[in-house]
Amino acid sequence: MEAKQVSLYERLGGRERIHQITEDVWVNHISNPDISSRYANSDSEKVKAMVTDFVCWGTGGPGQYAGKNMLDAHRTMNISHREFMAVIDDVMRALEKNSVGKREQNELLGLLMSLKNDVIHR
Ligand code: HEM
Repeated sequence: MEAKQVSLYERLGGRERIHQITEDVWVNHISNPDISSRYANSDSEKVKAMVTDFVCWGTGGPGQYAGKNMLDAHRTMNISHREFMAVIDDVMRALEKNSVGKREQNELLGLLMSLKNDVIHR
């Protein structure tokens, strides 16, 4: 018998849980001195909604992502490697806080790392 494939979306706990993780990532970002200034002029509710949609979509959940692709969203921001790693750190801390399993942490990390060259432009 073949094992049923359960999406990362489902294993993260679905949209509500991903929304909570996004909230925690946001709190980490705005208190992270390496990157907080990047978000100073952002509409926090809008960005959090976009990121929630993006993660739900990217991990195999239902629903659409109507935002920009990662290249278009970040190409004019001149983002450094250090800033990218600061974002990754904030995400990993939020996953720990939400008791996400190691396997799921690693899968999400892999997804984010795969976007590195679209996000960093320096
Ligand atoms: C893999 C890593 C990342 C992902 C998945 C990601 C995801 C996103 C998404 C989904 C949006 C919304 C796009 C839209 O509005 O259409 C966004 C916007 C943005 N991202 Fe990222 N991002 C990443 C890395 C970074 C990094 C490293 C920085 C810089 C510290 C950054 C800074 C921003 C800023 C400033 C915005 C615009 C916020 C606004 O509209 O006010 N992102 N990102």
